Amino acid sequence: MKFFIDTANLEQIREAHELGILDGVTTNPSLMAKEGVKGQEAVYKHYATICDIVKTGDVSAEVISTTFNEIIEEGKKLAAIHPNIIVKVPMIKDGVKAIRWFTDNNIATNCTLVFSAGQALLAAKAGAKYVSPFIGRIDDSNWDGVQLIEQISLIYQTYSYKTEILAASIRSSLHIVKCAEAGADVVTSPLEPILGLLKHPLTDIGLAKFLEDAKKFA
Ligand code: E4P
Repeated sequence: MKFFIDTANLEQIREAHELGILDGVTTNPSLMAKEGVKGQEAVYKHYATICDIVKTGDVSAEVISTTFNEIIEEGKKLAAIHPNIIVKVPMIKDGVKAIRWFTDNNIATNCTLVFSAGQALLAAKAGAKYVSPFIGRIDDSNWDGVQLIEQISLIYQTYSYKTEILAASIRSSLHIVKCAEAGADVVTSPLEPILGLLKHPLTDIGLAKFLEDAKKFA
């Protein structure tokens, strides 16, 4: 399973990259706004910097257009920033049409804002490289986000769709593990749940004891 970090914060992207486990980055307009990146030139420069940090990993850059022609124009500009840019397109009618166009023109896409298996089916049919079910937001509305990952995984396996399931809207380390069990190809998470995977009290207790005993023969 691939690990992406879900942030536009350069320090956090560097930290995850230096850990040696990072396969890519996802961003969205809210995450860019959180970093105070304003204006098209600054936003595009920020994407280029992220691509330079992760070097070989995919970096999702989201369109803010919502009509077919505008999505195509914006997506082409985003894809031209760096070869690792993945054009992130919302799950709307014009978005699906645009994903088909990008697929036919060799531009990789990530279909975002996916909340049902039917939407995931459409994204795969249109040829999206990634589909992003938002599992945390599904849990927030009293549905089971991880169950959706299982459902999409079954459908994609049954029909051998190549679209990768990119579990998004991750809220906890347990979400990451559950998504791995459910068959996600990728999990995109903020830094904290990724670092949370390191933690186990028995590791801390065991290490303290080993270091204490090591003093006996130092
Ligand atoms: C990723 O592609 C999504 O934009 C992101 O995971 C959404 O997460 P949120 O529900 O925490 O905003």
